[in-house]
Amino acid sequence: MIFKKIFNVFNAIIVMFLFITIYNMDPRKSAKQFQAPTGFLGRLFEIYHSRKNQPMVEWVISLLKLQPDDHVLEVGFGPGKAIKKLSQIVKDGKIAGVDVSEVMFKAACKRNKAAIKKGQIDLQNNDLHNVTYAENSFDKVLSIEVIYFFSDPVESLKYMWRIIKPNGYAAIYIAPKHELSQLKFANTGVFNLYTEQELNTMMEQAGFVNLRSYTKQISKYETGICILGQKSEKAG
Ligand SMILES: C[S@@+](CC[C@H](N)C(=O)[O-])C[C@H]1O[C@@H](n2cnc3c(N)ncnc32)[C@H](O)[C@@H]1O
Repeated sequence: MIFKKIFNVFNAIIVMFLFITIYNMDPRKSAKQFQAPTGFLGRLFEIYHSRKNQPMVEWVISLLKLQPDDHVLEVGFGPGKAIKKLSQIVKDGKIAGVDVSEVMFKAACKRNKAAIKKGQIDLQNNDLHNVTYAENSFDKVLSIEVIYFFSDPVESLKYMWRIIKPNGYAAIYIAPKHELSQLKFANTGVFNLYTEQELNTMMEQAGFVNLRSYTKQISKYETGICILGQKSEKAG
């Protein structure tokens, strides 16, 4: 218990230090690294995400009500911590992931080496829009803090809808527009910011039904919004 508390304090100090470093960089350079980390600097962003995003990863995964034999895809897996958590829950299922950043891909592969080796996890280093997953093949798709970077988010959501099985779910996580717009790197034209209502509308336009919206205070400075949408039983 005491060790966990010490770890949490230590982790919070590192996250704060990394955030200050990132915040004081050229805002556009920083935004581009959020979009797709590259090079040595990209490693810094990988460490930042791996240390900061665990609470949202745990939360989004808990909302998905995963079954042990589910077939799950994560879009933009970043450091691969959600992939790791998924592999501990979906023991008889399959986990796939796609991320455009080579830095993130390498880190996620390292973090999930054993499960990749035994074929439980299949990670691809690619742009979501360049991979061809079979239609109706996933029970659940999740994506955490990635939709900001899609040039046509409704089209990207439609693609996710197509590859989800009828009755399956997508969980899309964002930080709300009013919070992100306070940060200079999020105002450089690289991020597309959305309100909860805008994300809801886009998911509806993509074909998702039974939309459920959840909000959680992730940290002192960050609110999380996660919208769950279902592919109708009749679809597909
Ligand atoms: C802000 S990070 C979030 C990472 C991770 N989901 C997390 O919460 O820690 C955005 C991630 O999405 C990836 N990404 C951005 N655009 C992408 C695309 N078109 N296809 C696949 N991955 C993408 C980036 O490489 C990066 O790893």
